[in-house]
Amino acid sequence: MAPLLSVQALDVAFQLPEGEFLALENISFHIYPNEVVGIVGESGCGKSLTSQAIMGILPGVASIKHGNISFQGCSLNDLSSREWQELRGNELTMIFQEPMTSLNPVLTIGRQIAEVLKKHTSLSKIERKQQVIKTMNEVGLPRAEALWKAYPHQLSGGMRQRVSIAMALISRPKLMIADEPTTALDVTIQSQILDLFQTIKQNHSTSLLFISHDLGVIQAVCDQVIVMYAGRIVEQGKVEKLISEPKHPYTQSLIQSIPDATKRGQRLYTIPGTVPHLQERQVGCPFSNRCTYKLKQCETSFPDTYEFDDGHTVACHLFAKEGDGN
Ligand SMILES: Nc1ncnc2c1ncn2[C@@H]1O[C@H](COP(=O)(O)OP(=O)(O)OP(=O)(O)O)[C@@H](O)[C@H]1O
Ligand SMILES: [Mg+2]
Repeated sequence: MAPLLSVQALDVAFQLPEGEFLALENISFHIYPNEVVGIVGESGCGKSLTSQAIMGILPGVASIKHGNISFQGCSLNDLSSREWQELRGNELTMIFQEPMTSLNPVLTIGRQIAEVLKKHTSLSKIERKQQVIKTMNEVGLPRAEALWKAYPHQLSGGMRQRVSIAMALISRPKLMIADEPTTALDVTIQSQILDLFQTIKQNHSTSLLFISHDLGVIQAVCDQVIVMYAGRIVEQGKVEKLISEPKHPYTQSLIQSIPDATKRGQRLYTIPGTVPHLQERQVGCPFSNRCTYKLKQCETSFPDTYEFDDGHTVACHLFAKEGDGN
């Protein structure tokens, strides 16, 4: 099966007054039809930049330096702004951490969801309304008729996020990107929204790129996981395998940090140290100063990516075979 989205050897750089620096380096992964792929990593690892590069919404000071992103076999790097408008919000949609980012505060809920259909389909007004009400019910916004006339500020955070999910879903996208969609919500609402993503996964033939700093959340919804650290991918694999047999020391630390009901009352594990600033990119493996397994070569060279039989990959010197020059 051909991948729906292919990111190949992507480098993204920032051009700042103090100079240029690479924020993402050599990012490669595929998303297949109907697959749910997660990106996990601590704050500042480059998760949002990766999604912004795919959506063509990188900040003005950032640009793709190298590599390619293709969607349904077509390169996104050189789409015209008209082609982007046709794709974005239609076949390729996005859900943000803070729903107000994607909601228009002065438009009623019904109108703004219907607006998506107006822009991208030739449905009649009545057909649009039917479709909106169906989608609102589907995302857990009952009494759609009453809610239709409400404004975003009249809704709770959880309901607002359901509205932005409805807007991202209603065009029957091929790929939805959700960047920390539950982080701004309290724990109970968070788990309801995660359940909603599970339902979407079962009922829709859409792929999903799900971004979170919380591996526990990723575990709940994803098939495949990408672990990022300081602008690079350090491990990739199927979710069960990655959680049960993590290879990279960073992934192992992230797993230790997953809250566990059986350990209630104990202090949650936090990884000592912090992610290095990308501006201060040093030679060697950026995780080496926090890694308990550090080897001599970790300080001087970034490891190659090693691939295992099942497609699982890891970028860590611990997995270099004897004789591998590196
Ligand atoms: N507008 C910007 N100007 C300069 N540097 C930026 C800008 N946006 C991002 N960066 C740099 O890119 C890095 C990665 O940012 P990104 O937003 O992708 O992180 P993230 O993994 O999504 O983190 P978080 O979990 O906090 O959302 C940042 O640490 C910062 O160095
Ligand atoms: Mg982010």
